[in-house]
Amino acid sequence: YRRLRVALLGAGAVGSQVADLLRTHADELSDRAGAALELVGIAVRNPDAPRDADLPRELFTTDSEQLIVGADIVIELMGGIEPARTDILLALSSGADVVTANKALLATHGPEIFDAADQVGASVYYEAAAAGAIPIIRPLRDSLAGDRVQRIMGIVNGTTNYILDRMDTGGTEFADVLADAQRLGYAEADPTADVEGFDAAQKAAILASLAFHTAVPLEAVHREGITAIDRQTMEAARHAGYVIKLLAVCERITDAEANSPTGEAISVRVYPALIPREHPLASVHGANNAVFVQAEAAGNLMFYGAGAGGVQTASAVLGDVVSAARRHIAGGVGVGESTRANLPVVPIGRVTTRY
Ligand code: NDP
Ligand code: HSE
Repeated sequence: YRRLRVALLGAGAVGSQVADLLRTHADELSDRAGAALELVGIAVRNPDAPRDADLPRELFTTDSEQLIVGADIVIELMGGIEPARTDILLALSSGADVVTANKALLATHGPEIFDAADQVGASVYYEAAAAGAIPIIRPLRDSLAGDRVQRIMGIVNGTTNYILDRMDTGGTEFADVLADAQRLGYAEADPTADVEGFDAAQKAAILASLAFHTAVPLEAVHREGITAIDRQTMEAARHAGYVIKLLAVCERITDAEANSPTGEAISVRVYPALIPREHPLASVHGANNAVFVQAEAAGNLMFYGAGAGGVQTASAVLGDVVSAARRHIAGGVGVGESTRANLPVVPIGRVTTRY
């Protein structure tokens, strides 16, 4: 096999599992990729910090730049905007394909990064950037590219679902459950991103951009978090036959005032909603996510599974690594993001739809 040099940036909840699986399943992954995938190094802040997986100390470095230059595939799992943005741009300009799970970065600097990839014929893979282990990016970008998606609705943040679920079933207090979600590796480095709905809003912007072939800026996403929900509110909802879930809704709407020739526009919103207990979303427990997609020809589709967690998310990352390796050795062109529909995104807040 041709040897491909894989550089990993970050070895936290997700990165350490990716490194571990890359090493333990090296032969199998290389067979699938058609290339020998060699993990050449891991850039972190502190090379001596304890890790969730047993990884050789000599792989660790603080010099991400040196690691990136000369790599064929760069996996970015540091999170945040900088230095992730600069490192990804450096990787692309150095001829590497990039795999990332960084929804915060893609929802804010996606166009810049995809343009940079296009310019050099490289690709950016990001299946893990929305809904953890659930395959949802490829279905929206590829499988449904011949259809017209009308609506996406679902639970796209594992931490808040875990918190709301524990508050609902165990009558536990918010702060205690959040600490558990952090310990289990579900939460973002700053969990405000989860509980205030920023993370779900970033994912909603990414999913809506793919589904509606339109660049959806994060500022156009209506966002409410779950910090105002306490045990009493959960209990009142339960007595009335409902459960509270943080929902993301992305839909194509008709808006006579929208500045588009067809009167079509897009609405993207994230907010805590009352879900009837008999609705399928009510039985999404723990850190699981569920995404319903309604498309004109395909009808209703449902995607369900682990929305957060190190090893679960590593599955999506490694799928991208295999795809990147196959493309890299085939010398193919970029995977292609289409935002040419350019529909207006209109601000609509919480709506009283009955789910
Ligand atoms: P963690 O906070 O657990 O790990 C971050 C890693 O990046 C650490 O190893 C840290 O190094 C390293 N790092 C951070 N900043 C720098 C820097 N400036 N230079 C070098 N290394 C740096 O994050 P997660 O693994 O949870 O998440 C990684 C990415 O995956 C994020 O984008 C997140 O949104 C996304 N994601 C996470 C999921 C999850 O369930 N956790 C699920 C889906 C996506 P050190 O260890 O030395 O501090
Ligand atoms: N913090 C995120 C969540 C990780 O809880 O959903 C997965 O993207």
